[in-house]
Amino acid sequence: MSNPTEAGGGPAGAAPELIRLQGVSKIYTKSKEPVTALNDIALVVRRREFVSIMGPSGSGKSTLLSIMGLLDRPTSGVYTLEGVDLNSLKDRELARIRRDHFGFIFQQYNLFPELTAVENVEVPMIYAGVPARERRRRAVELLEQVGLGHRLKHRPSEMSGGEQQRTAIARALANSPTVLFADEPTGNLPTDQGRQVMQALKELNHYGMTVLVVTHDPGIALWSDRLLMLRDGRIVADEPTASSQLLQAQAALWTGEDQA
Ligand SMILES: Nc1ncnc2c1ncn2[C@@H]1O[C@H](COP(=O)(O)OP(=O)(O)O)[C@@H](O)[C@H]1O
Ligand SMILES: [Mg+2]
Repeated sequence: MSNPTEAGGGPAGAAPELIRLQGVSKIYTKSKEPVTALNDIALVVRRREFVSIMGPSGSGKSTLLSIMGLLDRPTSGVYTLEGVDLNSLKDRELARIRRDHFGFIFQQYNLFPELTAVENVEVPMIYAGVPARERRRRAVELLEQVGLGHRLKHRPSEMSGGEQQRTAIARALANSPTVLFADEPTGNLPTDQGRQVMQALKELNHYGMTVLVVTHDPGIALWSDRLLMLRDGRIVADEPTASSQLLQAQAALWTGEDQA
């Protein structure tokens, strides 16, 4: 069987396999007409990859991310995480994997408006039982890591959208995840602030974080090393970002610049 990541290239190279989906489908049945959101997905993501997922609205991007992030289960197919078949695990065990190994950011920052940046980042550590001093030290360190060392005491309303999203990234890092899932993280941001968010993700990836980003913005996808294109719940393209002529051309159109 050909391995889809072999063509992925990028700095991940032959890093160990992290996520493997085989024949994964998701059919929503709650609505009147069943909706096939994912249709027979086969995908391998290796450690330290930086993957972007693009495709038209409704093509299944968010569903794919939620299934990989263990926020939802597939209707059929096999999800293997580091060689472990997750079908055999109970919801409680999946929740533990999610909490200990996965971080999430979304288009909405979901910060607590009455808490400062540093307090927001501390929240997951409170739940994890980290002692107060250690919590504070680590929250400051994480905010510095995303370039917000000068915004520690600011509340969300006192920060730009990009700063709020970077606070959300710092919060997602609180439990030291190995994988960061981001669904349209720059969707609400002007270009320059979106760039700072991607800069932060790029840096995390550089230091070893596996990053998966859903976006409809080709300029954002250019930050990744590997591009997955979805249509009607299927992967219709899987290629290195740098050699994706389609993406390069689209990005140039979007920004009005020649990216090449
Ligand atoms: N909870 C749900 N119940 C029913 N249909 C859903 C649900 N979530 C998503 N869908 C449908 O599944 C398809 C894929 O959705 P989604 O993964 O959100 O796409 P994307 O993120 O690419 O816009 C769409 O047709 C959407 O309407
Ligand atoms: Mg979506």
